[in-house]
Amino acid sequence: MDNKGKALVTGANRGLGKALALELAARGFSVLAGVRDPSSAGSLLEAARDLAGSVDIVRLDVAGLGDYVPPSDLCILINNAGYRGPYLPVEEAPLDEWRRTFETNFFGVVELTRRAIPALRAAGNGIVCNIGSMGSYMPMPFYSIYRSSKVALSAFTEGLRIELAPFGVRVIEIPIGGVDTDMLRTSIAHRPPDAIEYPLYRPMAEHQAAMPTAAGAGGVAPEVAARLVIDNLFQPGPLRRACDPNAVAGMAYVDSSTEEARAQAMFERFDVRSV
Ligand SMILES: NC(=O)c1ccc[n+]([C@@H]2O[C@H](COP(=O)([O-])OP(=O)(O)OC[C@H]3O[C@@H](n4cnc5c(N)ncnc54)[C@H](OP(=O)(O)O)[C@@H]3O)[C@@H](O)[C@H]2O)c1
Repeated sequence: MDNKGKALVTGANRGLGKALALELAARGFSVLAGVRDPSSAGSLLEAARDLAGSVDIVRLDVAGLGDYVPPSDLCILINNAGYRGPYLPVEEAPLDEWRRTFETNFFGVVELTRRAIPALRAAGNGIVCNIGSMGSYMPMPFYSIYRSSKVALSAFTEGLRIELAPFGVRVIEIPIGGVDTDMLRTSIAHRPPDAIEYPLYRPMAEHQAAMPTAAGAGGVAPEVAARLVIDNLFQPGPLRRACDPNAVAGMAYVDSSTEEARAQAMFERFDVRSV
């Protein structure tokens, strides 16, 4: 793809989104960096100063898009912004937390994509890249809120891929396994026992906290992941593309196992019996 059109990356002030914006700018694209708070984008702008392309800030809360419409020369949309709240048992999780998560990880993506489609169609070779999670494929306890939002995102992405194919728009999902960002750092390795109030769930939560996890093992640097993600944008191939090493290993496990086998492995890990 040439780099004449614009690329929009959501959640671009930090973490993976920032690295994606910089990687695209390094390759000569005019990047629109969607951020909730423009004052948080100083280091992004600083890092973008000498790159071949450009980075312009767009104030964008995907959970409240207002009247924002992507520009008519948009050719790449990367739905990266994501939210993961506390790990909680379903019984303890307030519905507002479900709504908050879905507003960003699902409804925001749906609406922004809907508004971007006319421009992506006009580009003739537009690209939609949705940042998913390997967590979607692992039936982990206390993880239902975030996981459900990413599973919904996957289903949306699957159908969209077929719908937009006649217009030359490529739709892909990148399930992230482990990238060293704030989200990973605050992840599962240490959260459950602190977050969970219901004593009945504590043993499982403590067991979980003690387990080695992808999060505990750390992830790849955002810059490394971003390079792999952006490489993938421009290649034909399957819908779902594992890029970082944790995702590659996770996807190999998913591809070589059944859903039930993965569930049974989870029962074993948590030392509980299926009923
Ligand atoms: N890191 C991993 O290992 C991992 C694993 C699986 C999936 N993922 C996915 O990868 C993507 C990037 O995550 P990350 O690790 O970079 O997370 P992060 O470090 O927590 O950064 C999240 C980004 O999303 C933005 N954001 C959150 N809610 C938003 C909203 N309503 N509107 C606009 N922006 C919003 C945040 O902006 P503020 O600064 O304003 O909060 C921030 O820029 C997410 O979709 C995440 O679910 C990451």
